[in-house]
Amino acid sequence: MKLFNLTSWRRLFRKPEIKPTGKPFDLYPDDVFLVSYPKSGNTWLRFMIGNYITNCAVDFTNNHLLIPDIHFNPEKCAELESRPRFIKSHMPYTAQYPKVIYIIRDGRDVAVSYFYYAQKMGLLDKSTSFSTFLKEFTQSGVGSYGSWSSHVESWTAGERPNVLVIKYEDMLENAAIQLERTLRFAGVDCDVTKIEAAVEASKFNKMQNLEIQQHDLVFVQMRGITDDSIRFVRKGESGDWLNHFSKEDELYFGKTNDHVLDKFGYLK
Ligand code: A3P
Repeated sequence: MKLFNLTSWRRLFRKPEIKPTGKPFDLYPDDVFLVSYPKSGNTWLRFMIGNYITNCAVDFTNNHLLIPDIHFNPEKCAELESRPRFIKSHMPYTAQYPKVIYIIRDGRDVAVSYFYYAQKMGLLDKSTSFSTFLKEFTQSGVGSYGSWSSHVESWTAGERPNVLVIKYEDMLENAAIQLERTLRFAGVDCDVTKIEAAVEASKFNKMQNLEIQQHDLVFVQMRGITDDSIRFVRKGESGDWLNHFSKEDELYFGKTNDHVLDKFGYLK
């Protein structure tokens, strides 16, 4: 039996074709794609950028219009007027994206975060143990994006001046520094006071409170029925995998992922 309900998953993530010179929208050379494996902190970075651009007016109802998700609403990408355009994507490596900010997070924390997200979205039966889920996650990955390590390797192979890598754990350590790197890379003027305000407005508790207030508007109306006892802005920590992985889980995941965990300093 498949653990993931793939039909609803595919409905949830339509994978658009992007053609540089054709439908659904043309790309500009200064377009910035915020790319990540699901559950790596993309929404947080989108909130920080959005709060910077709008002087802290971002919430869960307008963030997807300001920085659209290419999988959910590609048509909104074409409607963006301000430049550079920021666009969210989960795609594995593609040479089509002009500029890319690639967010990486410890794959073990990604697995835990996705475990709860899949339950929230009704993609995973709540009786499924974490170990059983982890096997499927490790072998098949999420949706059609491949495994965690193949995704990370695809975006971080070689020297690519148009790709800036940002770690979720570094955002936890100092979000302002990572927001400033992001803005400079995107060619947006940096203002220290505005950066501080954007970081403050995008703090975990503020985002979680907004999620609670806007749950019905965002998660029910836009994404269908979801379980509101499990939060999207859930824990926001590094190392939650230690609370979920057995020794066997660690060895199992490590077999195919340790080389990437090691490369990015997660095995220290
Ligand atoms: P957890 O489930 O581990 O808490 P994405 O947006 O890519 O789907 O990533 C979701 C993860 O980012 C969730 O991780 C979520 O809690 C975390 N996150 C969202 N906003 C955050 C914030 N302001 N600070 C820290 N982590 C945040």
